[in-house]
Amino acid sequence: MSRILVTGCRGQVGTELMRLGACAGHQMIGHDLDTVDICSTEQVARMLDDERPNVLVNAAAFTAVDHAEEARQEAFAANRDGPAKLADACAARQIPLLHISTDFVFDGRKATPYSEDDPMQPLSVYGESKAQGEAVVRTACAHHVILRVAWVFGAHGHNFVKTMLRLAREHQTLRVVADQFGGPTPADDIASTLLRIAEQVEIRGQAMPWGTYHYCGKPRTSWHGFTEAIVADASDRGPLRVERVEAIGTGDYPLPASRPANSMLDCSRIQHVFGIEQPDWRAGLRRLLDALEAPGRD
Ligand SMILES: NC(=O)c1ccc[n+]([C@@H]2O[C@H](COP(=O)([O-])OP(=O)(O)OC[C@H]3O[C@@H](n4cnc5c(N)ncnc54)[C@H](OP(=O)(O)O)[C@@H]3O)[C@@H](O)[C@H]2O)c1
Repeated sequence: MSRILVTGCRGQVGTELMRLGACAGHQMIGHDLDTVDICSTEQVARMLDDERPNVLVNAAAFTAVDHAEEARQEAFAANRDGPAKLADACAARQIPLLHISTDFVFDGRKATPYSEDDPMQPLSVYGESKAQGEAVVRTACAHHVILRVAWVFGAHGHNFVKTMLRLAREHQTLRVVADQFGGPTPADDIASTLLRIAEQVEIRGQAMPWGTYHYCGKPRTSWHGFTEAIVADASDRGPLRVERVEAIGTGDYPLPASRPANSMLDCSRIQHVFGIEQPDWRAGLRRLLDALEAPGRD
């Protein structure tokens, strides 16, 4: 059993960390913006001194990718300055830091999946703020793991699956981008992976292989392919209005932030070092639809 502190404990990944960590018998302590702002040096120091965790998992972030283009300061505060405070405070207390990052640190021009050592070349303010967040964690806290994930979806909070489900109930045709490719990643699988890595910190001690790891779902798909799967699975469970999922290009659906055309992450390092396999997002999608159908949910 470990004492695991989670910042951003009410987000998509944070909620699953709290739930699954407790199920695994860990002592989970969670904070979110209402109790600890990771951008406050004093609040971060007090949190670590009061809670004295074995490991800190930072799931807090500014994740509104398009809004970040105009809210640059807020994005950099939460995604670079907050992680810098956490990294400094963890290093001073010898607390290992597990930090989450994103495929959006890449420009998506590579033809094959990105490896951990590929150069970061973000296309958006969000991607740039996350890239700089990674850099400060690496510099300030030697005992860190940065887990880059992609296309996150889960039962809690906002995500692409929930948006498509709503649109599929309202419209006959959905038009979805078919020229951006990636691996959707279930939030509960990300949480399980972070908990496994936290357990490895305890088990391996000084021999812990710190560094950056990639973790995303398989098989590779596009937003359009993902939507077709969402509609197919959801229509087995109840009537939808949608009749057609039309494939469009990125240029047909302009958004404030540019996205990488290729978001695939090469996950062989995490498999080799920790024995952690890529999850099949289709199973995660079915779990999410089950969870949304469960009694008591709105
Ligand atoms: N969502 C994706 O598709 C995606 C893809 C790749 C990587 N990631 C990364 O995965 C991680 C988890 O993402 P997620 O989707 O679980 O995020 P999320 O659902 O947006 O949750 C983030 C949480 O952090 C909180 N937060 C924001 N600023 C904070 C601050 N200054 N201090 C303390 N808490 C703060 C948020 O509170 P409020 O809601 O009150 O702001 C929210 O509860 C992030 O590092 C993200 O960059 C996400």
